[in-house]
Amino acid sequence: MKAGPVRPQGVVTRGTTNPNRLRRVDNWIVATCGDRLRAAADPLVVDLGYGATPVTAVELRARLATGVRADVRVVGLEIDPVRVAAAAPAADPPGLTFARGGFELAGLRPVLVRAFNVLRQYDESEVAAAWRTVTDRLAPGGALVEGTCDELGRLGSWVLVDATGPRTLTLAARLATLETPAQLAERLPKALIHRNVPGERVHDLIRALDDAWQAAAGYAPFGPRQRWLRAVGALKQAGWPVLDRPHRWRQGELTLPWPAVAPT
Ligand SMILES: C[S@@+](CC[C@H](N)C(=O)[O-])C[C@H]1O[C@@H](n2cnc3c(N)ncnc32)[C@H](O)[C@@H]1O
Repeated sequence: MKAGPVRPQGVVTRGTTNPNRLRRVDNWIVATCGDRLRAAADPLVVDLGYGATPVTAVELRARLATGVRADVRVVGLEIDPVRVAAAAPAADPPGLTFARGGFELAGLRPVLVRAFNVLRQYDESEVAAAWRTVTDRLAPGGALVEGTCDELGRLGSWVLVDATGPRTLTLAARLATLETPAQLAERLPKALIHRNVPGERVHDLIRALDDAWQAAAGYAPFGPRQRWLRAVGALKQAGWPVLDRPHRWRQGELTLPWPAVAPT
């Protein structure tokens, strides 16, 4: 018996997107996941759930082609067939194509999947299965970057998930407009957004970061980067297992191993 087409896994949700909205996570992917892509026999990347217009998939391809390898192939997958048809004029094969698909990745085996502002509209209880469905289909050494951001991409956060499960959480902010790191709580990934309550590690983290930011107020005259650098450095000194080096912190990022923030 011939196998029929695979049914896309997931549901159609709001398609809100914006040009340049995902620049922070894209820059982090170039810096942090570039090696996975360079080492891959087939540099295939999926942008899962690109939304009402394909603009962020177009940008992802451009950033990876310039920053990592020119022969990268980005496939934008959308569960909404109307959005797949609407994206067709933006295709530029073989480097950028669009197709219908969901968490099952339409039978592809990419080395990297970016899924942004997709799980936000699902239930928290659906996150683990969605992560697993995606990571089960990755190429060896592959990873999923799943996260959330605001409309303009000034506040965001994401989880790196691989075949072994969630590995890191990154918080990222546009420092020039950041009032307080507590604002990041509204843009946590689905796995954590309902966990910003006393007794949960991510709540302790946001509080500690906010306190460190207040304590570093004296550095504000030197600019928000200096203030953020001080605040992240203070977190590290206080025992938080902060990852990456200060050149990443300077971008307004903070990355920690998943166990430091995992739901209790
Ligand atoms: C809010 S938009 C996000 C657009 C873009 N990624 C961004 O961050 O700007 C979410 C999109 O994900 C799509 N979506 C939801 N679940 C999906 C799934 N399981 N597989 C593929 N697309 C999905 C929705 O149809 C919607 O177009």
